[in-house]
Amino acid sequence: MSLMEWSDNLSVGVDQFDDEHKKLINIINELFESMRTGRAQDALGSILNQLVDYTKTHFANEERAMQEAGYSGYEAHKAKHDALTQRVAEVQKKYQSGAKAILTIEVMNFLKSWLVEHIQGEDKKYASALSGTQVGA
Ligand SMILES: [Fe+2]
Repeated sequence: MSLMEWSDNLSVGVDQFDDEHKKLINIINELFESMRTGRAQDALGSILNQLVDYTKTHFANEERAMQEAGYSGYEAHKAKHDALTQRVAEVQKKYQSGAKAILTIEVMNFLKSWLVEHIQGEDKKYASALSGTQVGA
């Protein structure tokens, strides 16, 4: 069973970013599944690294598109990205330094609700400013 699924009500109206959101959801699901089935910690650690890397890539793509479109909500939106990036990097750092128990269901649920709320609340706002823009594809 997946932790979360993409559905049309998460669409931001920009194909590239819908695809990137789907990929993020897949990585989060994979991380959840690995936790649930008690996969080796090396495997879990590498999926966590993937999540951190892909989150950075995706946020950078969104930020570039918002800047190029002269989107007025850019600063506020970027601040939310930065806060999440920092939070996930902290989890990664603790995990790498041996605090394996840091990856909990609470962390997974936090990621899930953050992503859903962010897509529905923030990302959807850039849809009209960005329609037609493709960055880093
Ligand atoms: Fe965003």
